[in-house]
Amino acid sequence: MEISTLGVIGAGQMGSGIAEVALDAGLKVILRDTQEEALQRARARIQRDLEKRVEKSLLSSGQRDERMVRLYTTLEISDLAPCQFVIEAAPEDPRLKREIFAQLEGIVGEDTIFASNTSSISITKLASSVSRPQRVIGMHFFNPVPVMKLVEIVRGAHTSDEVFSITWDLAQRMGKSPVEARDFPGFISSRLIFNYMNEGIWLLYEGLGSAEQIDSIMRMGANHPMGPLELADFVGLDTVLSVMRVLEEAFGERYRPCPLLVRLVEAGWLGRKVGKGIYSYGGAK
Ligand code: CAA
Repeated sequence: MEISTLGVIGAGQMGSGIAEVALDAGLKVILRDTQEEALQRARARIQRDLEKRVEKSLLSSGQRDERMVRLYTTLEISDLAPCQFVIEAAPEDPRLKREIFAQLEGIVGEDTIFASNTSSISITKLASSVSRPQRVIGMHFFNPVPVMKLVEIVRGAHTSDEVFSITWDLAQRMGKSPVEARDFPGFISSRLIFNYMNEGIWLLYEGLGSAEQIDSIMRMGANHPMGPLELADFVGLDTVLSVMRVLEEAFGERYRPCPLLVRLVEAGWLGRKVGKGIYSYGGAK
């Protein structure tokens, strides 16, 4: 199957990053969100990123303009009808993701592949919301999508070999290095990365060090580009909490979210995207 039109559902930081690398791969991209402001922010973010690449002479202005013409944004899920492949990057809520897939089934062709960018939810569970679960697969990107090389590819119990191989090829076409992981909550990456962030928040909560000390230790002592707390702010504390809840439900106590994480999310201090999380950004107090 030739993939020429890709649908992306959810225009947050992951969805807009996925749209950008799909434009690089020469695809027409239909980016859908329920909020007009989210679509505008995503368009601006993609434009800004492409602009930076023009400034660094990595892209010509003609290539930038041609990519922007291939990006179509919409509030209507029915506009995804022509897509041969759809990647959902909606918030980490199993009910919402299952609803999206069920809705999509009545809109797109019967061969259209449904990929989920979920960080933690079992693909088999998501696939049970549609009548043809063989076309559902996990395609887990990493933030910032244009920079991070990995895509974790997760085959559900019913995913067909053909769908797996098309997805693998698409990831490579987007400039990524796919690695397969088994379908179990959190796959491989999230059980390690989210535990790293949650454990960092526990250390802060237990008073073992300041945020700066905890992050410095992992940056300089383990050569991680970001310590656990700055990474948590970067990913979004709401996402960290949602993923920890899925892991806790699957594996129990060892993935219990730190109460400080819960409190920060309750306060609406979700990290960089709102100007305040564990740290403050842009002059916020
Ligand atoms: N979009 C596009 N490009 C970006 C970018 C973005 N959002 N952020 C940074 N870049 C590019 C910069 O343009 C720069 O490119 P050049 O080298 O060509 O100049 C390059 O990345 C390095 O950026 P900076 O010099 O500004 O900053 P840095 O060296 O500190 O790198 C970083 C920034 C790449 C984000 C780095 O700090 C990093 O790798 N952090 C860890 C990220 C990580 O662990 N991600 C995984 C999170 S978990 C996840 O995503 C899973 C999930 O399910 C949510």
